[in-house]
Amino acid sequence: MSEKLFEITTDNLETGLRGYPIGYCTTSTVDPTKGLFYADKKAEEMAFREPEEVVFLLYNGREGTPEELKKFKEDLKKRAPLKKETIEAIEKLPRHGRPMALFAAALLILGMEEGKEDYKEDCLNLIAKLPEVVAVVINHRAGWGKTKPSNPSLGMIENFTQMLNVPNKNEKLLTEVFKLFQNLHLDHGGGNLSTFVGKAIASGLEDMYGSIAGSMNALAGPRHGRANQDCLEFNEAMLKALGDKATAADVEKYMRNILANNGLIFGFGHAVLRVEDPRAQLLYDFAKERFPENPLVKIALLIRSEGPKVLKENPKISDPYPNVDAISGTVLAAAGFNYPDYFTVLFGLSRAIGIAIQIVYERVYARDGKGTPIVRPKYIYKPRVSK
Ligand code: MLT
Repeated sequence: MSEKLFEITTDNLETGLRGYPIGYCTTSTVDPTKGLFYADKKAEEMAFREPEEVVFLLYNGREGTPEELKKFKEDLKKRAPLKKETIEAIEKLPRHGRPMALFAAALLILGMEEGKEDYKEDCLNLIAKLPEVVAVVINHRAGWGKTKPSNPSLGMIENFTQMLNVPNKNEKLLTEVFKLFQNLHLDHGGGNLSTFVGKAIASGLEDMYGSIAGSMNALAGPRHGRANQDCLEFNEAMLKALGDKATAADVEKYMRNILANNGLIFGFGHAVLRVEDPRAQLLYDFAKERFPENPLVKIALLIRSEGPKVLKENPKISDPYPNVDAISGTVLAAAGFNYPDYFTVLFGLSRAIGIAIQIVYERVYARDGKGTPIVRPKYIYKPRVSK
């Protein structure tokens, strides 16, 4: 028996498909008050696990046994190394391009050099190869020199950190923070823009790499993945304006002033959540514990407490609470990765995995193996009134 889920009226047009149910997501779900679940586990519960364990959970819909995890890690290790032709082609990309444009182009190169035209194989290969692709992209774009040889036996993120030539890096601390960032961004339900776009491209039977490259272009925009970069820049600007002795009252006044001048407060609100993003809560706690004296962390904590007070006064704002972007960039910066240009690429290193797994479901398993049809919504013709 078919169940009525949603009624569409003309009020729903031009609303970004907000809230329209259009399919099933087998990896994760976002609850407006409880936050993100990977399968049936709260994402925060998985935050300090090995990233490979979380990827296994998303890929299989359940946690792996120690034996299964060992096999999974071995398999990823074998798939990980990039062909030298792939690395050479990525290193020829124009360095003045935007980091996300280089990343998307690198994914197309990976498909050209190493694609198998098989969604499951390409998904696992992509998961295994992403750390090296991203390390090569960032090292090349940032002018940090040649990427060190991949050593996938170290583990997905340990290997990523050792390949990334961040100046003066504290490798242990960076690995810890990159793992946390990776685990909290792997997937966010089926309807966020980059995931939707990746699946839509794949619905035309474009291969995995072309679909993920398109999804990363969708992630690149400031309303989506670039928000963490914008938030760090917002926090830094406030710190510069108010100094490191800023009080809650100073921060409140600064925000009111921004709003009075029609400016934007970054890091608040979410399409689905109606509470403070639990991923943000976890990162605030982590930042408080690990970097209590860091001026950026202190200002981020004041923004966290004062922002909702100010935003709640506007009845049009349905979610006046911090989202994950409000603090994730600050944690990266505090750990020594103060390179906001690359935050969205790091987001992509994580999110491309969830999207690829969702593409496998839609192409290989959905509708008893037939796969979902090509995405083809309807637009209603409206004559343009010229002014
Ligand atoms: C995400 O993690 O993708 C963002 O929170 C955006 C969203 O879910 O719409």
